Formats: sequence, structure tokens, C-alpha cells
Amino acid sequence: MLVSMLVLYIGCTEARLLHPQKVHVYIRNDLGGGLKLNVHCKSKDDDLGLKVIDPNGIWEFHFTSSFWGNTQFYCEKSCHGALFFPFKVHVLIRNDVGSTLKLHCKSADDDLGVKVVPPSQTWDFRFRSSFWGNTRFYCSVEWPGAAHNFDAYVEHRDACTTCAWSIEPENPYIPEKINVDIFNDLGQGFNMTIHCKSKNDDLGVHVVPPNGDWQFNFKTSFWGDTQFFCSVEWPGASHYFDAFIEKREFGVCTTCVWSIKPDQPCLVFKDKSVCYPWTS
Ligand SMILES: *[C@@H]1O[C@H](CO)[C@@H](O)[C@H](O)[C@H]1NC(C)=O
Repeated sequence: MLVSMLVLYIGCTEARLLHPQKVHVYIRNDLGGGLKLNVHCKSKDDDLGLKVIDPNGIWEFHFTSSFWGNTQFYCEKSCHGALFFPFKVHVLIRNDVGSTLKLHCKSADDDLGVKVVPPSQTWDFRFRSSFWGNTRFYCSVEWPGAAHNFDAYVEHRDACTTCAWSIEPENPYIPEKINVDIFNDLGQGFNMTIHCKSKNDDLGVHVVPPNGDWQFNFKTSFWGDTQFFCSVEWPGASHYFDAFIEKREFGVCTTCVWSIKPDQPCLVFKDKSVCYPWTS
């Protein structure tokens, strides 16, 4: 009987064998760096299972090639001391932020789309790790007042095949009720015509008498992006200003008092006022 012997020195390249007759296969771990080598060899008929080869260690198997000369064993491995074979991974992401979570996960090849996850619910996805051991899924998460990215799966980082994440808020966001109070401080006895809008709301046209005020209120948005802008007009002038920008005013005022003067709008506090240029 013809015996052939093969010794494979495994570095970071793929090993594939195609051989007839009775065959011994030795696989030596030459990864270096004290890394264990995980190999998984299979033929069409046999699965030799996962083997862990110590640094510089050797693992062997043997088989007799088929009558048909079509025996093929292929082995796959990891170069990172982690898992190695195209294996199934299940990633679960639980929404523990206390409000609805917007989630969007992607890999280099796949876009899993935008998902809306209710509080305390879990969304999951499955995939097969790549042959090259470089699978990576990253996700963006958004909830009121927060937007973050995280790596949901990095093949050479994560030894899990069921990887469960809990998304928790560092700084929980509670929608706030905001009052905006706008005073006509134009002087000269002018009426001030005001028209305020947000992305979603049109508050209509109002005429504010000299030294009078007009107010509106709302709750800050789910996504922390509430913005109201207003036009103000009086004889001979027409301007716009931002009456409320959540990212600018959050934590600054919940009753936001504006004094509209002929040259600029000013946000008035007990001890100071902060003036802004017209936006147009
Ligand atoms: C201001 O507006 C009021 C109500 O619309 C109107 O009666 C008044 O005449 C206006 N005053 C001036 C100075 O335009």
C-alpha cells in the first residue's frame, strides 16, 4: 500500500488538501506568540471536529482515500487564538435604555437596516463568521438625547457564539416641558408680527403689541433634536431667529424668555441676557 505523508506547517494561510491513497496528515502550530491553534477538518463524509493545538504542538489524522479518487479534506483555522471555522453566531441586543431604541447594524457586506426596538425588548440577528476571520458588525444606537456606535461583533475580539448585549443609558433622558416667552421690546410703539415653526408644528401668525409677549410650550423631542425658529416683522424690518435649539438650550432654560429688540434677539435670565445674531 502506498503511504504518503504530509506535514503541514500552518501559518496564516488557508490549508487545503487533495490526495489519494492512505494519508497521514500532521498539522503543526507554527503561529508563534504562544497562540493556540484551533483547527477544524472535514471531508464530505467525515467531520473530525474542533481540535486545539498548543503552541508548537502537532495534531494528526489519517484516512484512506476513496475508490473514486475524489477525497478531499479541508481544514480551517483561526490566526487569532479564537474561533476559526465558519461558525454560526447569534447576536442579541436588548433595549435597556427605558425608551424606544433605534438600532442600525452593518458589516462590510451586510446592512441589516434600521430597527426600532421597544423598551425591554430584544432584537437579534444571525450570521456565519467569515472564512477570513475578519467578520465585524457595528451598530449605531439612538434614543432620546443620545446617539452612539458600538461594535456588536468583532471576530478576533469576541469568543462568543451567542453574544448578548444590553444597551443601557449612562444619562437617562427625560423629555422636558419647555415654555418659550417672547417679548416685544422694539420700542417706538411698533406691533411685532411673529410666526414660529418647528419641523412638525406651525404655531401660526401672531401680533404682539408693544411691551407685550406671546408664549408657547412643548415637550422636548424624543430624539433630542427639537428646534423652533421664528420670523419677526415690524414696519421696515423682517428677521428670523432660533427660539429654541434643544442642543443649545438643554439644561440652560425650561422657561426661555426672549426679548426682541430692534437690533437683536436676547435670551433673558435673572442676572444676565445672552444675545444672538439674527439667523437671516
Ligand atoms: C397693532 O395691532 C393691533 C391689533 O392687530 C391694532 O389694533 C393696532 O392698530 C396695531 N398698532 C399699530 C401701531 O400698528
